[in-house]
Amino acid sequence: METNIYPIYDRMMTRQDKEQLLHQRGVMIWFTGLSGSGKSTIALGVERELHQRGLLCRILDGDNIRSGINAGLGFSAEDRRENIRRIAEVGKLFVDTGIITLAAFVSPTNEYRQLARDIIGAEDFKEVYVSTPLEECERRDVKGLYARARRGEVKDFTGISAPFEAPEHPVLDIDTSKQPLEKSVAQVVDLIVSLSE
Ligand code: ADX
Repeated sequence: METNIYPIYDRMMTRQDKEQLLHQRGVMIWFTGLSGSGKSTIALGVERELHQRGLLCRILDGDNIRSGINAGLGFSAEDRRENIRRIAEVGKLFVDTGIITLAAFVSPTNEYRQLARDIIGAEDFKEVYVSTPLEECERRDVKGLYARARRGEVKDFTGISAPFEAPEHPVLDIDTSKQPLEKSVAQVVDLIVSLSE
């Protein structure tokens, strides 16, 4: 039988090694909510605040995922599922590196979010529901997509012509029409800090 004379070199450093290096715990904060509800805006504020506290974060959102690795995917049920599956797989790599990972995707159904939870692991998966009502998201209409969806120019638009299921047991429920951004950011930061205590 062949003996391995370099037993130490033949395996990757573990998640625990990396968490010790970074002095933090890896976790996935999974934001779900309608388009325009404020998911990415909150995530940006959280990242900035944690960075100042010396904690390493990674945001995954439409800007870096749908324009790159998922550029070929649209908004059919099948494509959204694949979008979420890939995001969860990529997110898991970050979490396993000890990084505080913030995913901001509509992820409109319990099934897609369960898929993400299964891939990442329930222990590391914290669901934050950005519950800003449709009327407010539509009033903001940052990208003009709600107006286009109402005119029938964008099909399968979440909240208008495609479903959104509210999560049943989110760890946090944030309605950005009812409180200032600073408060929403502070709630998520407090959640993350409490997880590593
Ligand atoms: S998800 O449903 O697959 O999770 P994701 O968060 O990646 O969606 O992308 C949603 C963003 O894509 C929206 O914020 C919006 O800017 C844009 N978008 C374009 N078409 C649609 C559509 N039909 N439904 C929802 N969002 C759309």
